[in-house]
Amino acid sequence: MTATVIDGKAFAADLRARVAGLVPAFAAATGRVPGLAVVLVGEDPASAVYVKSKGRMTKEAGMAGFEHRLPAETTQADLLALVDTLNADGAVDGILVQLPLPRHIDEAAVIARIAPAKDVDGFTPENAGRLAAGLPALVPCTPLGCLMLLKDRLGDLTGLDAVVIGRSNIVGKPMAQLLLGESCTVTIAHSRTRDLPAVVRRADIVVAAVGRPRMVPGDWLKPGATVIDVGINRIEAGDGKTRLVGDVDYDSAVETAAAITPVPGGVGPMTIAVLLRNTLVAAHRRAGVPLADASL
Ligand code: GUN
Repeated sequence: MTATVIDGKAFAADLRARVAGLVPAFAAATGRVPGLAVVLVGEDPASAVYVKSKGRMTKEAGMAGFEHRLPAETTQADLLALVDTLNADGAVDGILVQLPLPRHIDEAAVIARIAPAKDVDGFTPENAGRLAAGLPALVPCTPLGCLMLLKDRLGDLTGLDAVVIGRSNIVGKPMAQLLLGESCTVTIAHSRTRDLPAVVRRADIVVAAVGRPRMVPGDWLKPGATVIDVGINRIEAGDGKTRLVGDVDYDSAVETAAAITPVPGGVGPMTIAVLLRNTLVAAHRRAGVPLADASL
């Protein structure tokens, strides 16, 4: 039996279309469209690609995109001043500062400066704390996208054993909080976990977010597990070319899992779709206008 392939690309396209469908109602109520500001510091090629597609999809959803590209030498003071300006700008509902930032900039200080109501990445201490406390929050895009795929696939997650591999603030920790919020029994595993294969083998749900190519082989999985692969790793393909692989060894995992996200085309497209969803949600909350579609 081979696993069902979870089509994140199609799910993300549908989510973007649903978000786009709700923009006219916001515009009718407020006289403006939701606005998303994206800040890119430096020339990291992967980040530049993400920022470009964020801009395109923002416009496709009928929202206003504001792109700020700053040179790699930008000072922390100048970046903080830009965040202050965006915090105060009434046309901006969402602020995303693309990570990683150049090494001379204190990432935590920049994130903490973003107004929590505009923090569509869900990275501020306020939103991270609200998520942990079970209060309404803006939630990080990638883990929320993973949760949407899981609920679409499995329905009620109550009581399931979930293992999250990776403990980053961007994916691992918020993913664990979201699964806990769905009443899963959650284990966070990481590079210092003892006997990782045994930990993974317990799991009905595996979310792999470590950034190590094909680290999780199929024989670590419990038969019938649902596997969400957050990894996007570029490896040498042998013929002078490169290819993208996940943190899970897809070819062996597909034989054991019940369902699995591919790389590419699984979790990746969900991140921007959820970013647009978060921007719409933030816009409605800021404007004090209820969102018509509570399922979003
Ligand atoms: N870098 C990698 N993923 C993300 C993300 O979701 N948000 C931001 N701001 N930077 C990232």
